[in-house]
Amino acid sequence: MTTPTPHRTTMHNRSAILAGNWKMNLGRADVRAFAADLSRALAAEPSPAQVALFPAHPFLCTLSDALRGVPVIVGAQDVHAEPEGAHTGDVSASQVLSTGATWTLCGHSERRADHAETDDLVARKARAALEAGLGAMVCLGETLHERESGATEAVLERQLSALLDGVGVDRLDTAVGRWAVAYEPVWAIGTGRTATPQIAQDAHRFLRARLADRLDRGAGAIPLLYGGSAKPENCAELFAETDVDGFLIGGASLDPATFLDMIRRCGGAPKKA
Ligand code: PGA
Repeated sequence: MTTPTPHRTTMHNRSAILAGNWKMNLGRADVRAFAADLSRALAAEPSPAQVALFPAHPFLCTLSDALRGVPVIVGAQDVHAEPEGAHTGDVSASQVLSTGATWTLCGHSERRADHAETDDLVARKARAALEAGLGAMVCLGETLHERESGATEAVLERQLSALLDGVGVDRLDTAVGRWAVAYEPVWAIGTGRTATPQIAQDAHRFLRARLADRLDRGAGAIPLLYGGSAKPENCAELFAETDVDGFLIGGASLDPATFLDMIRRCGGAPKKA
């Protein structure tokens, strides 16, 4: 069996990044139909934004194959922290890579909650992904209780530091373009309660400053995505904030027309930074 050629591997913050996290939604036929619609639309009018899609594991090959030649990053929603072994039901970074996918999410809040993933484990997964040659989009963000008790910055600091310490700043410095951070306040995910542009910008500015403190270079080049009920009606306003480089989109990414609408609304806007 030959390994499919990965199509696209890097993300930068010079144009919007629109990433769809399909979670445990969409079956094989839906994935194929989505890919056909997206390919057709992007052939007619090329995307001004960088586009990424994170299907469920069983459809990584399907989506990768269907989007061959289309400038869309395909990624997994999770990988195991170990490169191989007795881990029933899990999938390694190199297995993901062999499907043609080139990125993975790490530490989505639903995995932190449903599978008790700790900051340390999330960092180990990001490290495993980078070592195997996958890009890593690391998700972090505070719960409602943490926000209301004034702990937002402390939580973001703890989650980001665990990543920087666990992966190592040297490794991250040399992997610019192959990792990104998604700020996803847990209270905004799937609730319809989007962060205001100011809340998103404050969190992103804080994360950018912490990255600048720790990384030798590249802090300004690390894409910082916002996630949490992002949709066509609010994405342009959020994207206008200096440190919001794009979106990790759940619900609104399941319909190709809605997802394309977001690509068009954000893609043309030049970033201020
Ligand atoms: P949502 O999900 O857009 O449905 O709020 C975002 C995410 O969990 O990545």
